[in-house]
Amino acid sequence: MIPVNEPRLGEKEIDNAMECLRTGWISSTGKFLEEFEDAWASYCGMRYGIAVSNGTVALQLALACIELEPGDEVILPTFTIISCAQAVVYNRGIPVLVDSDPRTWCMDVGQLAARITPRTRAIMPVHIYGHPVDMDPLLSLADQNGLMVIEDAAEAHGAQYLSRRADTGATWRRCGGMGDISAFSFYANKLITTGEGGMLLTNDPDIANQARSLRNLCFQPKRRFYHTELGYNFRLTNLQAAVGLAQIERMPEIIARKRWIGESYRERLKSIPGITLPVEEPWAQQVYWMYGLVLEESTHLSAADFARLLQAEGIETRPFFLGMHEQPVFTRQGLFKGERYPVAELLARQGLYLPSGLALTEDQLDRVCRAVEKILVKG
Ligand SMILES: Cc1ncc(COP(=O)(O)O)c(C=O)c1O
Repeated sequence: MIPVNEPRLGEKEIDNAMECLRTGWISSTGKFLEEFEDAWASYCGMRYGIAVSNGTVALQLALACIELEPGDEVILPTFTIISCAQAVVYNRGIPVLVDSDPRTWCMDVGQLAARITPRTRAIMPVHIYGHPVDMDPLLSLADQNGLMVIEDAAEAHGAQYLSRRADTGATWRRCGGMGDISAFSFYANKLITTGEGGMLLTNDPDIANQARSLRNLCFQPKRRFYHTELGYNFRLTNLQAAVGLAQIERMPEIIARKRWIGESYRERLKSIPGITLPVEEPWAQQVYWMYGLVLEESTHLSAADFARLLQAEGIETRPFFLGMHEQPVFTRQGLFKGERYPVAELLARQGLYLPSGLALTEDQLDRVCRAVEKILVKG
C-alpha cells in the first residue's frame, strides 16, 4: 500500500530531540521553544510567534485574542476543516460562509463583500492544499471595513503570494505572513512537523502577549496563582520545538521536493481525460501540501468510488473536505439553514487527494499515475 503521507525526519531532528531528553528540558520551557517561535515567525515575515499544541487550538486562540462579542460574525470558506468553524463557535461567534473558487479551491474572494454585515468582525482565509488565497482583494476589503484577518496557513508552509497592491508594488509574501494573526499546524502530515503542534504569528505586540497569557492559563507574571482571566493549557513542549527548529532549516529542500511531486503528477496525469488537476495561478507559488484531483461528472465515478478502485490497486487516498454547511453538528444548531455552495459541494463529492508525502518515491508516483490511468482510460 502506498500511504497518503509519510513524514521524513533527519539527523538534526534526532540530535535536537536527544539533547532535550539528555538535559531534561522536555516540557514547555527551554531554549528550543523560543528559537522555534522566532525562526518560524521570521521565515514567514512576522514579528512574533506563539507556539501551541496544534493547529486547531491556534485558530481558537487567534479568535480568543480578538475578543468577539456573542453574535459577532466571522467569514470563512465552507470548504475547509472543522477547526476553522469551531474556533468561531467556541468563541461565541457566528461562522458566515462563502463558496470556493473553482480553480484554486480556496475561498472565492469575489463573494466576500456580499457577506459583510454590521456584525462582521473578521475574515478567515484558508490556503487550501498548499495554494494561496487571492489575498489582495481580501486585504483591501478588510481594510475598508475595519475587519481583522485571521489567516489559516496550516496547509501552506512556505507558499508565496504575489501581492500587486498599488501602495506597496509587486512583492512576494509568504502565506501566514499577511493577516493580523495567522495560524499553522505542525501535524505529522504537514510540510514541517513537530508530531502534534501549531503556532500563531502576529506583528502586534499586544496580541502576542495576550496569546502567550491565554496559552498558559493566564498566570500573572508577578503573582503566579492569582488569575484575572480564564485561559487554556495550549502549550507546546521544548521537545517538539526542538524537532520543529531542525525542520525549518530544511524548508528549501522540503518545498523543492513537494513542488517536484506536484509537477511530476501534473506531467503524468495532464492528458488523462475526466480529471481536473490543481492549478498554480500566476500570482502564486504553491507547495502542493496534498496533490488533489477532482473527477469530472462525465466519468460517472464519485470520489468514493474512485478511492475504492485505487485502494484495490494498493493506493491510499483521502477524500476532500465536506463543507461546513453540510455538517450535522452545525445544521442541528440551526446554522447555515438552506444555504447551498455548489463548488464546495462538487469538490466534496468528486475530490480526493493522492499520496503526497515527502517520502514518496518516483517509482511509487509512477505506480499511482498508472493506476489512475488504468481506472479512467482502460476501465
Ligand atoms: C486548514 C487547516 N486548518 C487547521 C488544521 C488543524 O490543525 P491540527 O490538526 O494541528 O489541529 C488543519 C489540519 O489539518 C487544516 O488542514
